[in-house]
Amino acid sequence: MNSNILVTGAGRGIGSAIAAALAEAGHTVAVHAGHDAEAARRVAAALPGSGHAVVVGDLASPEGCRQVFAEAVDQLGGLDVLVNNAGIFRSQPVTSGSFEDWEAAWRQTIDVNLMAPANLCRLMAGHLLSRSQGPAGGRLVNVGSRGAYRGEPDNPAYGASKAGLHALTQSLALSLAPHGIFAAAVAPGFVDTRMGRPALEGESGVAIRAQSPFNRVAEPEEVAATVAWLATEAPIWTSGTIIDVNGASHLR
Ligand SMILES: NC(=O)c1ccc[n+]([C@@H]2O[C@H](COP(=O)([O-])OP(=O)(O)OC[C@H]3O[C@@H](n4cnc5c(N)ncnc54)[C@H](OP(=O)(O)O)[C@@H]3O)[C@@H](O)[C@H]2O)c1
Repeated sequence: MNSNILVTGAGRGIGSAIAAALAEAGHTVAVHAGHDAEAARRVAAALPGSGHAVVVGDLASPEGCRQVFAEAVDQLGGLDVLVNNAGIFRSQPVTSGSFEDWEAAWRQTIDVNLMAPANLCRLMAGHLLSRSQGPAGGRLVNVGSRGAYRGEPDNPAYGASKAGLHALTQSLALSLAPHGIFAAAVAPGFVDTRMGRPALEGESGVAIRAQSPFNRVAEPEEVAATVAWLATEAPIWTSGTIIDVNGASHLR
């Protein structure tokens, strides 16, 4: 069955790979970017199939979430699946910078990495519950992080935001299951994207690759394949799961 799917943060990196994996499987995608409209247009234009949409908007505010969600629903004529992939990683250790730097990093990180997915999940649940054919097949998939479990010494706000996102996913799996709606997440380790790349250069890159017995980090397509499976094919009995996608670099 073809699904209509909103993928946030799909202008590059993991999100663009998720959009490609979903379109290759025959689904219709709303490709979202926060600011880089040109990148989102390029990704959408390269997708196989037809009917894909482009939606641009900053998700750090509730108004931005409402606007992005409404445009995706409008352009695709309804949504079956939401993939919350957009995220930020701003280094702010507890040992450096001012209190104001610390507070600003926390607020920005929580707004984008946790509040935005929470708001979009709320909008998606309302959309699924109100549509005339009922919510059958509705899915929420969130992109979390290994950092929620392993710790993020240089960016505790990021680790906390992703731990919150995992907890949000599991709470929604419980509350939405009676309505036939699925919720799950992935927890990737390091991935070779613009976000991951600075840490992957030089000595720190050697150490990071060695965290996995495969001695490398993930390609975006490896995370994307897992997300696409959860978003469309995974048995509903996997609802509530958080899948580690970290090359055995952190076993829990
Ligand atoms: N890379 C890694 O090592 C790694 C590891 C674990 C988990 N993850 C998670 O995987 C997801 C994707 O990461 P990535 O590596 O692909 O990152 P990326 O290359 O930096 O892409 C991030 C995407 O999020 C969008 N975005 C950022 N801020 C936004 C905002 N305020 N409003 C709306 N959209 C916004 C960006 O769009 P614009 O630039 O157009 O604003 C971009 O499309 C994130 O949730 C990240 O935390 C990544």
